[in-house]
Amino acid sequence: MKQLKGIILAGGLGSRLYPLTLGISKQLLPVYDKPMIYYPLSVFMNSGIKNILIITTNEDSHRYIKLLGNGKKLGIKISYAIQDFPNGIAESFLIGKDFIGNDDVCLILGDNIFYGKELYAQIEKAKENLNQGFSTIFGIKTDKPENFGVINFNDSGEIISIIEKPEKPSSNIIVSGLYFYTNDVIKLAKALKPSLRGEKEITDINNFYLNKRKLKLKLLNDSTSWIDTGTYSSLIKASKFFEDYERKTKKKASCIEEIAYRMGYINKDQLVAIGNSMKSSDYGKYILDLIR
Ligand code: G1P
Repeated sequence: MKQLKGIILAGGLGSRLYPLTLGISKQLLPVYDKPMIYYPLSVFMNSGIKNILIITTNEDSHRYIKLLGNGKKLGIKISYAIQDFPNGIAESFLIGKDFIGNDDVCLILGDNIFYGKELYAQIEKAKENLNQGFSTIFGIKTDKPENFGVINFNDSGEIISIIEKPEKPSSNIIVSGLYFYTNDVIKLAKALKPSLRGEKEITDINNFYLNKRKLKLKLLNDSTSWIDTGTYSSLIKASKFFEDYERKTKKKASCIEEIAYRMGYINKDQLVAIGNSMKSSDYGKYILDLIR
């Protein structure tokens, strides 16, 4: 039986956020009350993806291991691999080749924050697409499309192409950092020539599937929040979003321990043990309160 594997890409220099990221990996920076990587990890855990590879830099890998270990505490399996140079997002599939094996794979960029229940219905569709041999990307509206992979539509609303960071974007719908690919993505990534900026581009992979008519687009609507963390301001905005969310709902979003418990990956005793290990923080107290 095929399994869906998950890769979180947490490499890169994070140079757009210097000096914040001179001493630490971008995906470990705080977003309100938790490290950024908790958010993409939550997406996987909520989607039932329990076998996960985190790709980081050599310098940072020990920090991720300290934070998440082998995943056992969360009832999942986490392994690690290194991307030595920022050679592009599509290199993930080469680095993760043995991890993926003969399975299909979902890639999420460690700095992409998604939030909203609707997303999970869409993810179920993406899984069905995989079973029918189609890969899936998720499009979202943004007011700064030029910073992303932009989807170029024809008059009938069909995708013609995806263009990476165009100077003059033809639409305001961009490709977000969540991708579901059939297993042949490994072969594709291997054959892919680096772009002018020297990277194996995820956009080239998407255009390949598009031209083969093997790509499906799911548009995320307003019920799913997608928060970019690429600038100082958007990083603060993300923190504020989750602080507001907590104030309004009295709940924490993307609390990986809570998800592990609710999804049945861990039991009550395991949850209590995690809560106790952090009980001097509000985060730890929140976890303990869940079972009171
Ligand atoms: C990357 C992709 C781009 C995509 C974006 C989503 O951009 O190249 O196509 O829209 O992630 O976050 P980067 O973050 O490398 O600038």
